[in-house]
Amino acid sequence: MRKIILYIATSLDGYIAEKDGGLDWLEKYPHIEGEDYGYAELMQRIDTTLMGSGTFKILEEFKGPFPYPVTKNYIFTSQNKQSKHPVVFVKENASEFVKRIKQTSGKAIWLIGGGKLNTTLANAGLIDEIILTQIPVFLGEGIPVLGALEKPLTFNKQTWKSYKNGVAQFVGKVAL
Ligand SMILES: NC(=O)c1ccc[n+]([C@@H]2O[C@H](COP(=O)([O-])OP(=O)(O)OC[C@H]3O[C@@H](n4cnc5c(N)ncnc54)[C@H](OP(=O)(O)O)[C@@H]3O)[C@@H](O)[C@H]2O)c1
Repeated sequence: MRKIILYIATSLDGYIAEKDGGLDWLEKYPHIEGEDYGYAELMQRIDTTLMGSGTFKILEEFKGPFPYPVTKNYIFTSQNKQSKHPVVFVKENASEFVKRIKQTSGKAIWLIGGGKLNTTLANAGLIDEIILTQIPVFLGEGIPVLGALEKPLTFNKQTWKSYKNGVAQFVGKVAL
């Protein structure tokens, strides 16, 4: 079965973006030159990404080339949408769709976010691994990495790694 990996950055209080979607706290943080927080390794493990339409909307506003030209990219939405980017819009129930693609052949699948899609898939028991990179900043309010959970999400195995610029990364295998 293909694994779903949620690889995402949060503030110390668990937000993935400011209320208006702002990401300055993440982008302008003093990162270590050449440090990718395991991104290249993740890209070796996956061949597919999943995004909610809220996240894709922000991505479309970025200047520069589309960041995921090689992977199969699924965007969940209830609307009829089109894009110039190499993405597939999925109107089907997200949990049912993800359950099905997990059983197809292929590499692991990166759950990019955002919070709404993460919550849907966590409550459906479909997330296998979480790699959460914590930026040492409190936002006070914003878009949470996970919303209301039907039960606590726990782990079988977990590690923490700290970086010299104060960033910490949690890696956990979800207890399903
Ligand atoms: N810090 C990070 O690493 C990181 C990573 C990813 C995202 N983000 C940020 O997260 C924000 C977006 O998060 P979000 O929680 O607002 O939105 P989201 O989860 O990206 O998208 C939610 C939207 O996806 C569609 N959708 C369709 N089926 C769904 C389902 N079963 N469950 C949930 N959504 C479904 C709906 O849109 P329709 O109205 O189209 O149906 C829904 O409103 C952005 O600001 C982005 O920048 C941050």
